[in-house]
Amino acid sequence: MKSYQSILFALVFVLPVCAQKKAPRTAIKPKAEFVSELMAKMTVDEKIYQTVQFTSDGTVTGPKTGDNFITRIQQGKVGSILNATGAKATREIQRINLESSRLKIPILFGHDVIHGYKTIFPINLGMASSFDPKAVELAARIAATEASSGGVHWTFAPMVDIARDPRWSRVSEGSGEDTYLGSQLAVANVKGFQGDDLSKINTILACTKHFAAYGAAEAGRDYNTVDMSERVLRDIYLPPFKATVDAGVKTFMVSFNEISGVPSTASKFLMRDVLKGEWKFDGMVVSDYTGINEMIAHGFAKDEQDAAQLAMNAGLDMDMVGATYMNTLKKSYDEGKVSIEVINDACKRILELKYDLGLFEDPYRYSDEKREKETIYKPEFLQAAVDVANKSMVLLKNNNTVLPLKKEQKIAFVGPFVNDEYNIIGSWAALGERDGFATSIKEGITKFLGNTANVTFDEGVEIQSTKRDLMQKAIDNAKKADVIVAVMGERENMTGEAASQTNIDLPGIQKEFLAELKKLGKPIVLVLFNGRPLTLTWENENMDAILEAWFPGSRGGDAVAQTLFGQNNPSGKLPITFPRNVGQVPIYYNHKNTGRPYLGLSDPEQKYKSRYTDVDNSPLFAFGYGLSYTTFSYSNLRVSSAKIKFNQKLKVTVDVANTGNYDGAEVVQLYIKDVVGSVTRPVRELKGFERVELKKGEKKTVTFEISSEDLKFYNIDMNNVAEAGDFEVFIGGSSNAELKEKFELVD
Ligand code: GLC
Repeated sequence: MKSYQSILFALVFVLPVCAQKKAPRTAIKPKAEFVSELMAKMTVDEKIYQTVQFTSDGTVTGPKTGDNFITRIQQGKVGSILNATGAKATREIQRINLESSRLKIPILFGHDVIHGYKTIFPINLGMASSFDPKAVELAARIAATEASSGGVHWTFAPMVDIARDPRWSRVSEGSGEDTYLGSQLAVANVKGFQGDDLSKINTILACTKHFAAYGAAEAGRDYNTVDMSERVLRDIYLPPFKATVDAGVKTFMVSFNEISGVPSTASKFLMRDVLKGEWKFDGMVVSDYTGINEMIAHGFAKDEQDAAQLAMNAGLDMDMVGATYMNTLKKSYDEGKVSIEVINDACKRILELKYDLGLFEDPYRYSDEKREKETIYKPEFLQAAVDVANKSMVLLKNNNTVLPLKKEQKIAFVGPFVNDEYNIIGSWAALGERDGFATSIKEGITKFLGNTANVTFDEGVEIQSTKRDLMQKAIDNAKKADVIVAVMGERENMTGEAASQTNIDLPGIQKEFLAELKKLGKPIVLVLFNGRPLTLTWENENMDAILEAWFPGSRGGDAVAQTLFGQNNPSGKLPITFPRNVGQVPIYYNHKNTGRPYLGLSDPEQKYKSRYTDVDNSPLFAFGYGLSYTTFSYSNLRVSSAKIKFNQKLKVTVDVANTGNYDGAEVVQLYIKDVVGSVTRPVRELKGFERVELKKGEKKTVTFEISSEDLKFYNIDMNNVAEAGDFEVFIGGSSNAELKEKFELVD
């Protein structure tokens, strides 16, 4: 069993039993009865104050509002605090709260534990590259275990926004462009964070965000307008959200953006009709940071009272930082603009979560300094960070098998990431430690090789500046090497919130530096540290190998070293398309065919086709693409029947062989095309994937099961149904899979 799998087993099945402190629920009445009795004692003001969340003076995750959270707590006006972390700090805040709370209602502590709490895993776009839900679940389980020891009750994750535009800086936080992959990984995150019992001490509330379609911001500009058909919203953007509801997620966060004129923050359609209506969500919905106030700027509310009553009536249960609920809801209630039923519902949802976490029995149970000290940075957590980072590596090019490197080679490591311990853990890294803790490339390589007599390390240039004073020394050392490894990329804050860019080339003069190195006529390996797809056309033409490492986390240097020297055979696949240039954006694999599809240079009609005159339609690197140090072959694709009925299942089987010289893992991908629909359908859609470990020379048979459930879409009548007709199925190692079979769905 792989080391990470044994860790997962221990974490999920063994540790929780011995480590968890299951609250003695016999010490408290059943939830419904307890909450009902508590609410019966509460005043309207006290119910409203449960819907109020302030930020502590810890991590800054939004604009300053000038309110003092401690004062508000002492006034008994706070139900939740975000950005307070650590057993000691949260215990003190909880103490102040309980002294001020007439009914001793505990405060709920939330924080952005996105890809780790102290032990930082690869950014989520990196972890999505693993196509391994169990690896993603493990990372979330470890994050929850550490965070819950640091006083955190609730993480604002998973971010499940489908993203098809790399100009949008938050692509780094999600699982990329595909609805099926995004749904699978969203569920894995919820399972990892919430475990199977929220009363266990190492589980925390998850929060599915940002509801909804935040990633479809026009022009990739963060917070920008979203305008789309309900069909696209429901077919592409909502399924990952729905999947988390089905997996039992307990909270949602709405998005800053409007959808077709209505800000999500006050969207009755999203929150009352879809989430709490159709999907029967019984958890709590929180705004994004001052999102309620921002409806004034949207032009959707005339003032804060208007914004607050619109949001509350639309189903928004908690106000993050905006203080609009605290300041105006009682007035709106007195004026009959907000009913007691609506206020009761919001308050009840919040109190039920505090009950689920065991906070009424022991408000301090998560704020235990001894447990915190015993939990943070367990060696098996840091090892898991390496294992998951290894699975996130995507090999994009490897000409003449320049990789893996050999220990006896003279190697010049150059580039701004040589010594970097800061950016390597990416953005949204919670309490992750950077300088002085994260493993740099130099540290990772040195640890891996032991003896670095044959290796040099020179930064040469910085990430974003035009400073050239160190470039020549790096070039001089590179002249003596057999192979050059350029470790380059973005600053961590060039992705994440409020960092959209129109230019997605390698920043600064890194490309200029590469061009100088290219003149030496030596093999060059480019290793990338970035949070979004970059435009790499020149690099792809001029580098001998390209390894996408994303921001690999606290032990990123170890994972990169193990991958470059072949101890780890890269198996990652791209969860998002890499364009040839930014002019192609938005570009994604599951596009529509149009009436004049361009078939490339072989197309007999080169003019009157849906194409560009300056660039091919195809991306530089396709969704699902990723190489290995070995090679894999696919053969003998077969279906269990040429026809299936709506209540039958179809088995799709393929043989996969490792035809190369290294053991490796391949992500076998299954795509389906609905040939004709009552509305146009994508050229293909991912409907299954499986990571398969294959020793060199080994062959395995992989079988997927498909049913009409997998073929559903919102048809011409906006019914979510499968339609009888012809389908094509493709299996391969990327979205360009060519192995094809057909089947028919019959009534
Ligand atoms: C930010 C982000 C959101 C985050 C929240 C709390 O503005 O949009 O993802 O969870 O505020 O930090």
